[in-house]
Amino acid sequence: MATAVDSFALLWRELCGSLSPYQEALALLGALCAGACGARALRALVGAARVHVGTRLPLLHLLAPPRSLAASHGAWAVVTGPTAGIGRAYARELARRGLGVVLVGRDAARLGTFAEELRGDFPVRTLEIVADFSRGPAAYGDIARALEGMDVGVLVNNVGVMPVVPGPFLTAGEEHLWELVNVNVAAAMLMTRLLLPGMLQRGRGAVVNISSGSCLRPVPYMAAYAATKAFVDSWSCALSRECSGSGVAVQTLIPFYVATRMTAPGRYLRRPWLFVPSAEEYARHAVATLGVARRTTGYWPHTLQMWFTQLMPEWLWAWLAMHINIHLWKP
Ligand SMILES: NC(=O)c1ccc[n+]([C@@H]2O[C@H](COP(=O)([O-])OP(=O)(O)OC[C@H]3O[C@@H](n4cnc5c(N)ncnc54)[C@H](OP(=O)(O)O)[C@@H]3O)[C@@H](O)[C@H]2O)c1
Repeated sequence: MATAVDSFALLWRELCGSLSPYQEALALLGALCAGACGARALRALVGAARVHVGTRLPLLHLLAPPRSLAASHGAWAVVTGPTAGIGRAYARELARRGLGVVLVGRDAARLGTFAEELRGDFPVRTLEIVADFSRGPAAYGDIARALEGMDVGVLVNNVGVMPVVPGPFLTAGEEHLWELVNVNVAAAMLMTRLLLPGMLQRGRGAVVNISSGSCLRPVPYMAAYAATKAFVDSWSCALSRECSGSGVAVQTLIPFYVATRMTAPGRYLRRPWLFVPSAEEYARHAVATLGVARRTTGYWPHTLQMWFTQLMPEWLWAWLAMHINIHLWKP
């Protein structure tokens, strides 16, 4: 040890002897920057291990058994867009964990079938609310009446739409642009406005807002969709800070590709694999991070993708995004 310290001191003296004060200052600055980068990388690694590994270690659960979601949050979960993909899988996962589930979607028949399936598979109560979020303000009267007085512990703002085929901004019709705003942006805010006051009053609960990996940087050929997801990310993170200390957790989920109906038109996205999980696999991982992380991809291979994305220069990301959107989505 002493030798190592002596050698370092010797090396430093030698270096300083051969460097001008200006170079010395630069070397020090370089060392500080490298140290800061190392510390940030270590923090990210430890954080990811806590969220993705710590939550799934059975040994930890034996030492400190997690409280049931119903006991810690409330008896009911409300899930928007639960008839397909991530919303459906998330609702199943919450029912498996003992929460009653309120399904808010636009297709009464599909809601009914899914509710019946949940009640058959798990000992839970369900409630269906028919609402088409693309109708804007008109959608919320019925929802508010149906949810009045319910002990809602978890709200999952999942509902979302994406252009069937990506393309230049001006190819999107006016109707689709309003749909993006009403379904991807307004639904999350207005559902939260409806249910957050009750959660704050009870001092417990969680709001889960589903954004997307496309929120991280501008995405040419999917400009408006990605912008709605950046909105959700920004709003949700700010809300999370506002609710800090209230007993209500606000979580932003940032999934990358998940094999669902939404991504089905894309080549290589139809069949699940490690980096494009099935909705069920994704939901299993994501629900485990509830109450542990304020902002997470919810799934460890997506966290690797997020790190890779953040390291990329903006021009490379834009170039890749554009080419992925042109080629990956060809039938
Ligand atoms: N899949 C991915 O790769 C991915 C990646 C990142 C983020 N996300 C986000 O994850 C969320 C779920 O995506 P997903 O892939 O599971 O989508 P999905 O398979 O297309 O399912 C969308 C759900 O939303 C419902 N919905 C759509 N428009 C609606 C409206 N106007 N009113 C009421 N319900 C409506 C659909 O109902 P119907 O069954 O009646 O159509 C369906 O239940 C979205 O917010 C999406 O942006 C997805």
